[in-house]
Amino acid sequence: DFRMNIAIDGPAGAGKSTVARKVAEQLGYVYIDTGAMYRAVTLGAQRASITPDQPTMLAELVRSMKIELAPGKEGQSVFVNGEDVTLQIRSREVTLQVSHIAANETVREVLGQMQRNLAARKGVVMDGRDIGSNVLPEAELKIYLTATVKERALRRYREIEGSQNVTLEQLEKEIAERDNLDEQREISPLICASDAVVLDSTGMTIEEVIRAIVQLSRTKL
Ligand code: C5P
Repeated sequence: DFRMNIAIDGPAGAGKSTVARKVAEQLGYVYIDTGAMYRAVTLGAQRASITPDQPTMLAELVRSMKIELAPGKEGQSVFVNGEDVTLQIRSREVTLQVSHIAANETVREVLGQMQRNLAARKGVVMDGRDIGSNVLPEAELKIYLTATVKERALRRYREIEGSQNVTLEQLEKEIAERDNLDEQREISPLICASDAVVLDSTGMTIEEVIRAIVQLSRTKL
């Protein structure tokens, strides 16, 4: 009974989490949202008033956090030291700061190790920024899922419509800024692994993207 690991990386708002979750469901694999882990650390830092320019305190914080992922109704539930923070980690405050916290070396080391442990027994679909390039370089299938900034902003806008007071233009700017920070950071930046399959989902439906990835996974069996 052969199980593989699938890495899905790409810029913000490319649809990675929806796609990764559905692919995992279809294959009977475990879905792991690594962005949620960076968000959980960011929430913890904000609560403790630790800023990205305090690396020692940030390192201490991340080492003290017990982060757990559990399958939830919509995607994945996230627990920190037993508290359900699933909703809190999606706030605008967290979204605006997460890339700064994610640039910290110790944060990346600690979370990267947790992610490797979660994937050790295979059969995971993991989405993030550096999974194929850094966390799981041996993953049997690597996807780099992207779309134009405009398209990604529009999708995000439709998703949050009404719930948060933000314009499409503002979202586009914030997404581009987050991509830039993720691509430019020194340690394990967002990058397309040399052996990744690039999927540009602009103009594709979610179902088409899912089907393409499931088909690619069959070629690895
Ligand atoms: O995937 P999501 O948009 O929730 O990720 C939030 C942020 O977490 C990213 O913008 C990035 O800064 C960070 N991240 C990362 N490495 C990963 C996953 C997420 O640096 N593997």
